[in-house]
Amino acid sequence: MKIPQNRIEKLREQIREHDYNYHVLAEPSISDYMYDQLLNELILLEKENPQFISKDSPTQRVGSDLTKEFKPVQHNIPMLSLSNTYNENELIDFDRRVKEGLPEEENVEYVCELKIDGLSVSLHYFDGKLNVAATRGDGAVGEEVTNNVKTIKAVPLAINKKPLQKYSLRNFEVRGEVYMELEEFKKLNEERELNGEKTFANPRNSSAGTLKLQDPQLVAKRPLKIFLYFLFTEDIALKTQYDNLLLINELGFRVNKNYKLCKNIDEVLSFCREWEDKRDKLPYEIDGVVVKVNSLKQQKILGSIAKSPRWAVAFKFKAKQAQTRLNKIVWQVGRTGTLTPVAELEPVFLSGSTISRATLHNIDEIKRKDIREGDWVVIEKGGDVIPKVVSVDPKKRLKGSVEVKPPSKCPVCGSKLFKPEGEVALYCENNFCMQQVKGRIGHFAARGAMDIEGLGEALINLFVDSGFLKDYSDIFRLKDKREELIQIDRLGEKSVDNLLEAIEESKKRKFEKVLFALGIRYVGAGAAKKLAEHFQSIDDLVNASAEEIETIHEIGTSISKSILRFFADSQNRKIVEKLKKAGLCFSSEMKKKISGKLEGNSFVLTGTLESMARDEAKEKIESNGGKVVSAVSKNTNYVIAGESPGSKLKQAQKFGIQVLTEKQLLEMIG
Ligand code: IVH
Repeated sequence: MKIPQNRIEKLREQIREHDYNYHVLAEPSISDYMYDQLLNELILLEKENPQFISKDSPTQRVGSDLTKEFKPVQHNIPMLSLSNTYNENELIDFDRRVKEGLPEEENVEYVCELKIDGLSVSLHYFDGKLNVAATRGDGAVGEEVTNNVKTIKAVPLAINKKPLQKYSLRNFEVRGEVYMELEEFKKLNEERELNGEKTFANPRNSSAGTLKLQDPQLVAKRPLKIFLYFLFTEDIALKTQYDNLLLINELGFRVNKNYKLCKNIDEVLSFCREWEDKRDKLPYEIDGVVVKVNSLKQQKILGSIAKSPRWAVAFKFKAKQAQTRLNKIVWQVGRTGTLTPVAELEPVFLSGSTISRATLHNIDEIKRKDIREGDWVVIEKGGDVIPKVVSVDPKKRLKGSVEVKPPSKCPVCGSKLFKPEGEVALYCENNFCMQQVKGRIGHFAARGAMDIEGLGEALINLFVDSGFLKDYSDIFRLKDKREELIQIDRLGEKSVDNLLEAIEESKKRKFEKVLFALGIRYVGAGAAKKLAEHFQSIDDLVNASAEEIETIHEIGTSISKSILRFFADSQNRKIVEKLKKAGLCFSSEMKKKISGKLEGNSFVLTGTLESMARDEAKEKIESNGGKVVSAVSKNTNYVIAGESPGSKLKQAQKFGIQVLTEKQLLEMIG
């Protein structure tokens, strides 16, 4: 029995080595054929000897089952984002602020790294083995995507013993960026187009979409890559970001090699200039440079504000531009009836995707820039933003071109248009205009609202055009039409059942999501959250006066008026009633506000509490006006320490923050 175990271990070691050479160093050491032979032998041996299967075996990269739900993972250290700078002066200001925040005599060095345009992940290693991988989420809580991350071959499932022993390292967290190379992204999109699937807008979206797939076997087929840039551990003391990168590299992770230690801000500026020029030569997208204070001690002194550290900043490159012909201007009707002019362009490739449409905002904008059909235009795209037309090349204007005139009636339903006083936009007055109906349903089903997987634009168009959906409440009656839906050409039994399941699943969405999904004008996700926190139920909101609504912080008259207008419409009230009957959530399990005794104070919990679970403690603190944060900083007011507290207690003592027992906390609340 000893023999297969030895062989298994040996094979694993060899495969790990080859994975590292191929995926991290990009220097393959054997042929694909030989590699497959080793892997197949290992798969066979593990099958015959299942008692030896271990989680960190290379065979486990694609072995896991479907993930039903991504579990939340609380980040020990919040995953912050970076504040942006857009020009050299802003970088010089950053340097000045850094120096002002540090003792006068201290010299400051920076590490410049490329800002990879992907999505950040956090990998936890326990005893040198990959334990949990999580997305950033909202920075405090992410989603567990371990099985998907395991499919990225450059991620070691187990770290080599040598460097672990050399550094006496066992448990640590590494953070980095998952991304997709441009060529791979193009290939993936071409395949999707051929299969009639929706294409991804850019490599970042396709990486994000891939990491959230529920089937790791599908993820394994997608060419995700990773660069790591940060390591955190309590095992050893780290000194600088530069050494940190060297250490990550030595542990066997993939580190982007284009980083530089800069002695001063001038060297930082030239690094940024150099990469702004060279960015197109890289096989992946970068959207800037990340500038980090090198010394970790200095980083600690500088600390963080709200969501970003004071010790780092992103230098964002200028948006990339391209020239193309504007073929036609069409007027699109949005879900609230707004008419938006959209430019149909001769397709051009720009920043990772092919652009064939760009927004023109409104008629005033068109006039100001004097944009006409047939013109050659400069378009621009930056980050998430929808591409826009920046300017027109008047020299290339066609003879006989004419100024654009706004339409006189709705281009979709032919209804009258109106222009509210003081607004530039034109509106279609017909609430039943097909395009408005489709837009409202699209918003209802979208991510961030009801998040109904699979109910995208194409399907909504199909369902509205064929009479299955007249408003969004009809979505919950689709289950009675299963047989008819299956008959529709492109839809098979399986996809109909998946959709119906996703619809049922969406009934679990919280009140704030449902409220946002209703699509009340001006009620965005943020406002919906505040409204759901203030009002216990939809009935309370329906019966509220404008004054009461406006007592909520940051909710003004335009929102309150819009809410009253929405519920004054009997049609809307009927739809809401139908949604209630369908079982959607129209009330919040509100944290009742008991007192404001802890108002303005932030708390960190550590260790095991005696009389209550952590969630309960959090609830108690919040219902008395306090805030619970996950990490100790200078701004923390109290640390509540239970049985066997962790490193947070030490940090509290270091910062001189008052430490309370559970009993003292309860006394404070009374
Ligand atoms: S450092 C507080 N380094 O940029 C430190 N981030 O806008 C923040 N990113 O969420 C992260 N390349 O997704 C860092 N070399 C790099 C990066 C990088 C890309 C992304 C990351 C982060 C976002 C911040």
